[in-house]
Amino acid sequence: MSLKDKIDQSKLPQHIAIIMDGNGRWAKRQGEERIFGHENGVKSVRDSVEAAAEIGVKYLTLYAFSTENWNRPQEEVYALMKLLVHTINAETATLNKNDIRLQAIGDLKSLPEDCYNELQEAIENTKNNSRMTLVLALSYSSRWEIINAVKQIAKDIENKKIASADINENLIQSHLCTSNIPDPELMIRTSGEHRISNFLLWQLAYSELYFTDKLWPDFRKEDLFEAILDYQTRERRFGKTSEQLIS
Ligand code: FPP
Repeated sequence: MSLKDKIDQSKLPQHIAIIMDGNGRWAKRQGEERIFGHENGVKSVRDSVEAAAEIGVKYLTLYAFSTENWNRPQEEVYALMKLLVHTINAETATLNKNDIRLQAIGDLKSLPEDCYNELQEAIENTKNNSRMTLVLALSYSSRWEIINAVKQIAKDIENKKIASADINENLIQSHLCTSNIPDPELMIRTSGEHRISNFLLWQLAYSELYFTDKLWPDFRKEDLFEAILDYQTRERRFGKTSEQLIS
């Protein structure tokens, strides 16, 4: 029985988020420049998108570029942006063929103009697809997102659209970039690092976290299936006791 066949469809996470980590180390191990790792990471992106869509996951979020990544050497940032534009451009037809909608979260206006335009075009061209939504986190950081949400809420209070007593979980959630996306049930990070690194801090509150030593360019469909199988062995209690879950 293949790993894929072992997956229990009734316990499938509807949203999986991935911190794709380890491209630089993968390249270094082969005596190559860091960008070689990013280029090979694209294959893993393709495999993960295909695998998630095949088994019926509804949302896949990939952390492609963090706010902090702007501090990397200029040439790496430039090469990564070029790779992103190229990949988005090259993959739009495949996304359409597979009925996958593209969305993006983050400070998109801070992206180079060609990257921003390419992204908006792909989002527009895939907006009617409904099998799965692929969310790219680009120039994204969770603290940036939460600060923005707080600013918008403060403005609405200032303009007397809402009162401070109206602030609750739903209101905050509705001001996040992910307001139209359910929280991930499963978050995967590759490369052996056990950190969340400013990724979806609000949304991951009750997510199951899965860490693998595999570096991102080595991550394949089977690795995603393995993570899902591990997730399916977990008991999600949301603060309750095991006994309460049974009754
Ligand atoms: C982390 O590895 C990876 C990134 C910052 C970029 C991920 C980008 C891609 C895989 C390119 C294509 C993506 C899409 C969505 C089209 P790292 O550089 O931090 O590795 P290290 O920790 O070994 O240095």
